[in-house]
Amino acid sequence: MAANPKTERRRVRCVINGREIDVWEGYRLWDAALDANARLWKWCGGEGLCATCAVVPVSGGENLSAPTKTENFSLALWFAKPLALVRRRWKGRGVRLACQSYVRGPVEVVGVLGKAGRTAREAAGIE
Ligand code: FES
Repeated sequence: MAANPKTERRRVRCVINGREIDVWEGYRLWDAALDANARLWKWCGGEGLCATCAVVPVSGGENLSAPTKTENFSLALWFAKPLALVRRRWKGRGVRLACQSYVRGPVEVVGVLGKAGRTAREAAGIE
């Protein structure tokens, strides 16, 4: 008997800060980053409050779930906080919070903060 394609979940490839991992469709990007040891920052523990897990999609950004209200609120604050001038360069680049994003298909992202993110951004030609 053939599996029902509507209910069949599939494995999808995630690349986070250059670290590759296959996860089940619907898996949280933040958890994939932890599993892949991608070294994303995560000050609030994945609650959507600190925005330190911010990532920029390199490819497949459309394969992430739609932003949550929490994500939209946190990113709006993040761009408005002190040092927002530093963050302005990320505006319009589809910044997402890994802890609020769920994987629907193959995706590659790089972290906005941290040494691992900087190295991955340089490798991807994003600055
Ligand atoms: S870990 Fe704090 S917003 Fe994602």
